[in-house]
Amino acid sequence: MMEKDICILAIESSCDETAAAVVKNGREVLSNIIYSQIALHTEYGGVVPEIASRKHIEKINQVIEQALSEAHMKLEEMDAIAVTYGPGLVGALLVGVSAAKAISFASGIPLVGVHHIEGHISANYIENKDLEPPFICLVVSGGHSHLVVVKDYGEYEILGRTRDDAAGEAFDKVARAIGLGYPGGPKIDKISKEGNPDAIHFPRAKVAEAEYDFSFSGLKSAVLNYLNSCQMKGEEVNRADVAASFQKAVIDVLVEHSMGAVKRYSYNKFAIAGGVASNSSLRVAFEEACAKNKIQFYHPSPIFCTDNAAMIGAAGYYEFVKGVRSSYDLNAVPNLKLGER
Ligand code: KG4
Ligand code: ZN
Repeated sequence: MMEKDICILAIESSCDETAAAVVKNGREVLSNIIYSQIALHTEYGGVVPEIASRKHIEKINQVIEQALSEAHMKLEEMDAIAVTYGPGLVGALLVGVSAAKAISFASGIPLVGVHHIEGHISANYIENKDLEPPFICLVVSGGHSHLVVVKDYGEYEILGRTRDDAAGEAFDKVARAIGLGYPGGPKIDKISKEGNPDAIHFPRAKVAEAEYDFSFSGLKSAVLNYLNSCQMKGEEVNRADVAASFQKAVIDVLVEHSMGAVKRYSYNKFAIAGGVASNSSLRVAFEEACAKNKIQFYHPSPIFCTDNAAMIGAAGYYEFVKGVRSSYDLNAVPNLKLGER
């Protein structure tokens, strides 16, 4: 017997993207609407929380309506409303959470709060219909760097995390230092193609007694020191070489930690997720490393790597079918831990 399709209306507003999507059975994206605020924040060199919240308020209803209309579906046809409730900027999260609660209350459609990182990980299910847990996933975004065992849907064990800056944060800070502007990741990715990744040796940090943890602030300082010393010596800086060498230092550490974990825990599947996972050199490096280690490599398309609501719909589906429901006192939790409710 054919089971009934389950459709989720998903909402995401944890940072600077106001997004809504309709996802069928956890893996089929019927619509994926993203209003990016990046242009608004560029002149400040980073996300301004107050501006982000105000813009979310302006856009949220519009993106939700558009998500339903592009999916050719009505609100009444939705089985659940999934919304990111953490981690993220509290004022930004509250906009999505309030909208989701209001719609759920008015329509009687169940509400499911979703963890943002679980969303990033679940982005891998959208285009890889064969991917099922268990596998290891590296989540690298503007706010997070986590190496995670996905034991089952919604069940995670964190092997390592960053001690200081997130990987994307390091990209953004280094990009600013070499005058590329915000957001730095895509710009470093692009300019690196013209540079020599072996031109400058930047440190590959290890964290004592925590072999899967990351630390990127030392690398960031090394880049700043290099730029200062060039300036003092009156030497011209080759921005493409600096970008490529910095990027290689980040990727080397991410690949080494990830492959170490994959081998230690004997998983034969490995996935990447988060904004930094759209980096082209990082993808090539992981493709090669996984091929060498005979591991199946999974990654979302760039549109599902950066913040979007389709990934929240994918994660929300698996929570929903497990029976997870949120009550109307669901609140934004800016520092929500993965695996917590
Ligand atoms: O996942 P995301 O959209 O938001 C967070 O949850 O943080 O990630 C945004 C981060 C930014 O730091 C951005 O610079 C980085 O992802 N990023 C990239 C690339 N595209 C976005 N980093 C490196 N290479 C890229 N191509
Ligand atoms: Zn994100």
